[in-house]
Amino acid sequence: MKRLLVTGGAGFIGSNFVRYVTTIEPDIYITVLDKLTYAGNRENLANLTQNVELVIGDICDVSLVEKLVPVNDAVIHFAAESHNDQSLDNPSLFVQTNIIGTYTLIEACRKFNTRYHHVSTDEVYGELALDDPKKFTPESPYNPSSPYAATKAGSDLLVKAWVRSFGLHATISNCSNNYGPYQHIEKFIPRQITNILCGTKPKLYGNGKNVRDWIHVDDHSSAVWLILTQGKIGETYLIGANGEKDNKAVIDLILELMNQPNDAYEYVTDRLGHDLRYAIDATKLEQELGWQPKFTDFRKGLFETIMWYRENQQWWLREKEAVEREYMNRKK
Ligand code: NAD
Ligand code: DAU
Repeated sequence: MKRLLVTGGAGFIGSNFVRYVTTIEPDIYITVLDKLTYAGNRENLANLTQNVELVIGDICDVSLVEKLVPVNDAVIHFAAESHNDQSLDNPSLFVQTNIIGTYTLIEACRKFNTRYHHVSTDEVYGELALDDPKKFTPESPYNPSSPYAATKAGSDLLVKAWVRSFGLHATISNCSNNYGPYQHIEKFIPRQITNILCGTKPKLYGNGKNVRDWIHVDDHSSAVWLILTQGKIGETYLIGANGEKDNKAVIDLILELMNQPNDAYEYVTDRLGHDLRYAIDATKLEQELGWQPKFTDFRKGLFETIMWYRENQQWWLREKEAVEREYMNRKK
């Protein structure tokens, strides 16, 4: 593969993926297609100008997509509306980008016979009970809870149908919760780190017992690259690094690593339909493709993430007030 089209490459995971590929395959030319919504930022691609081009545009724009797809060897589709809380406020944007956008891309890939990789989430499987010994596997039934998760589930099902009916050369990955640099400050971990840096208390939804399965974003990138280059067409791979933690435990660790008193947080109103627990069984990816996560020390990864937000205040500070105002308005 010499040329890749990466949608959503100016967002959190997409930009980390672009950086990862430029490091391991410096000769590959990457075109990023990104609308630069509030979650996209051209600064996420700073210092990557050689062999990386940013096209500002919408994945729902058929004529633009049909220009970009045929001149690339593969499409890696990260672009999405990605935040559950936002999806409860404005679901129609999620239907448009996550479903119509995916449809537009797979139609173009079908037309030009282009390899397609679909980046998705473990949220399509719904929630697990806290005491359930089971984890999600590629055979788990789809049972999404939020508008975000439902639109991601819909997009996965479109891809599966295009593989079966039209022979689309596609793979799908469903990953657990990512953390690391360049994550938008609306999301749990960066919101709490930046709250503390601004002198505000971290906010814990509900009783803090909800569990997420944390993975470092660079481990997500290495898994997507392996699936793109060695995955079997038509297959779904689950990506996770055995990182289950409840939200209270994550807050406790952030407080400790940032030298705060252990009671310096507050409980706030819970999210509507808040899923209790996600957990990934990544056996298929490990056994069939030999993937292993590298960043398994969560304490170290979290500390480095805290340092990144400390050292890159210019990246997030101007948005902080507006993000918190939006959270306040949501509560009303
Ligand atoms: P993000 O919100 O940080 O980035 C999304 C990017 O997509 C932004 O740059 C935005 O500008 C762009 N975008 C949005 N709508 C667009 C449109 N219509 N046309 C073109 N570009 C558009 O999201 P993220 O957290 O980096 O997630 C990336 C992908 O990974 C998503 O598909 C998400 O569902 C999936 N995923 C995320 C996680 C996670 O923990 N964040 C876990 C598993 C899967
Ligand atoms: O599981 C993968 C998914 O992880 C991705 O598909 C989504 O794109 C991504 O946003 C993420 O979804 P979550 O809803 O799990 O992530 P979020 O960071 O919003 O919240 C993580 C947990 O923390 C969740 O249980 C809600 C809770 N939370 C969140 C915020 C913003 C709080 O307790 N306080 C908060 O302020």
